[in-house]
Amino acid sequence: MSLQYSKIGSVGVLVEAQSAQQSLVSLDLPELRALFEREHLLVLRGFRSFERVDAFTEYCELWGEISLWPFGKVLELVEQKQPEDHIFDSNYVPLHWDGMYRPEVPEIQIFHCVSAPGENAGGRTTFSNTAIAYARASETDRARWAGVRGVYERKMEFYHSKSVAPIVTKHPTRGYTVMRYCEPPKEGDSAFINHPLFSFEGIPESETREFTQSMKKALYDPANFYAHEWKTGDVVLSDNHTLLHGREAFVSGSPRHLRRVHVLGKPALKNPHLEFHQ
Ligand SMILES: [Fe+2]
Repeated sequence: MSLQYSKIGSVGVLVEAQSAQQSLVSLDLPELRALFEREHLLVLRGFRSFERVDAFTEYCELWGEISLWPFGKVLELVEQKQPEDHIFDSNYVPLHWDGMYRPEVPEIQIFHCVSAPGENAGGRTTFSNTAIAYARASETDRARWAGVRGVYERKMEFYHSKSVAPIVTKHPTRGYTVMRYCEPPKEGDSAFINHPLFSFEGIPESETREFTQSMKKALYDPANFYAHEWKTGDVVLSDNHTLLHGREAFVSGSPRHLRRVHVLGKPALKNPHLEFHQ
């Protein structure tokens, strides 16, 4: 039987289980991979949940080699009581791509929602398809973005790194145009913990605000933007080379718990933007 799916907004598709007993491994993997490569974002909903974290990583390994972090294969995204970084806070996370500060950049992110934050608690994960955003951009915006490089430095528990990346670049293996951009946190947001350092090269400083505003307008356009509201048990796969992602703030103390795994490409992409990594 061929895979049944439906579009979710302008970015991504939803594949729903036929019954609560259906496991993800019952889906034809080559067919699912072809769908992923075409759509860049898959939401797999209603399937039999992973009882243990090992069952989740075993499933992820079907997609490729898992990137190892100092904490292992799985990042537990849960609010911490006294977070030292915004990732572990209930605050928003600006758009970015994963692995931008790491020696290797993962191809796929796989999320498993262990516990949804609850209705009206916020905490949607945001996705922007940069290939569509660029394809739809005006000549004025394309000219504004051409030649601009983002300079980003971030120090947190797992690394201290600096990356310099052109805003407009090519997908590392497929050749189409994508954008790489780490969105600056909102100005004057003192609640944002562990602010990364950032600047933009290739434009006069006086034009930086206009530049960041044009990026925001393009990346959050509903034609290429999707915010995923989690349901417990959801598994989401996202193309990290084409999309950017972030998070909306959620109600502190809500039971939001996601697990995230990074799957490397074959071969793994050596980070072309890394200036230093400690
Ligand atoms: Fe991320």
